[in-house]
Amino acid sequence: MAAKARISVIGAGLMGHGIAQVFAAAGHEVTITDAAAQNLDTARSRIADNLRDLGEDESAAARVRPCADLANAVRDADYVVEAVSEDLAVKQKLFAEIERHVRADAILASNTSVIPITSIMQGLSRRERALGTHWWNPPFLVPLVEVIETQWTSAPTVALTMALHEGAGKKPAHVKKDVPGFIGNRLQHALWREAISLVEQGICDAQTVDDVVKASFGRRLPVLGPLENADLVGTDLTLAIHNIVLPAIDSRPEPSPYLKKLVAEKKLGFKTGEGFRTWSPTERAALHARVMQHLKSMA
Ligand SMILES: NC(=O)c1ccc[n+]([C@@H]2O[C@H](COP(=O)([O-])OP(=O)(O)OC[C@H]3O[C@@H](n4cnc5c(N)ncnc54)[C@H](O)[C@@H]3O)[C@@H](O)[C@H]2O)c1
Repeated sequence: MAAKARISVIGAGLMGHGIAQVFAAAGHEVTITDAAAQNLDTARSRIADNLRDLGEDESAAARVRPCADLANAVRDADYVVEAVSEDLAVKQKLFAEIERHVRADAILASNTSVIPITSIMQGLSRRERALGTHWWNPPFLVPLVEVIETQWTSAPTVALTMALHEGAGKKPAHVKKDVPGFIGNRLQHALWREAISLVEQGICDAQTVDDVVKASFGRRLPVLGPLENADLVGTDLTLAIHNIVLPAIDSRPEPSPYLKKLVAEKKLGFKTGEGFRTWSPTERAALHARVMQHLKSMA
């Protein structure tokens, strides 16, 4: 793909405007579209605000062209990425429409969080140029983009997509099979399942779970991945630990009853002020600010 590619982003919400920002900041020409006029109209100013907040060149926002008409938004694109609502029927319908207007060699990507890419792309007539690209929020601060191939995706489509994201300063990771949760969310939710189980069993409270993670292996995680860590301590020690620990940790194949009860009681976390822990508006704002500050310090 050219150093200055034509990128089309469908959906100008939380993820879409951030993805558009990353490609524009990397020098690409970006078109963005959205079904909701208000979200489209504010996309460029939100991008400019983000760039200002990051101390980056705001002029990149001018490379993002809002376009209300889908056909016009994708017609000349080298690469189309969809970040609309997480709804399979909406995404399938959208890609069928996109395919009617794009060039035959344009790459088509979905930023779905959890819907199988195979389900989204199965109705396309040229499925070899379609794949998943799973960004993390906020797209301009979290480096990872998982690049998910399906059974139909061609090798050049994967290679061009990996190179495009690497060139835009992201850290692409090739996911070779279209499995639920890809890589990052499988790992993250394996940890969350055990975290919830520890509380459910009365072994500790929710704050203690978070304190333990943040004060122990969480400290090392930015520089020491789990398999680097296993090699560091030794695969023999890892095996000895697994022989004792794995039979004891949660392996239920469904969500915890404890989690279901919280949801049934409308303890939805930040949204209602209580989840695993209670959250005042000040505490919510402070945690959000701490996360953003931390991500900026690592950027
Ligand atoms: N929020 C996250 O942390 C996160 C992280 C990774 C992936 N994702 C995925 O990214 C996608 C977008 O998530 P979001 O958080 O940005 O959602 P959002 O609700 O902020 O934005 C979605 C946007 O899509 C628009 N839209 C809906 N249907 C449309 C259509 N048919 N055509 C054009 N525009 C349409 C909406 O108007 C809205 O502006 C979802 O698939 C989500 O699962 C989200």
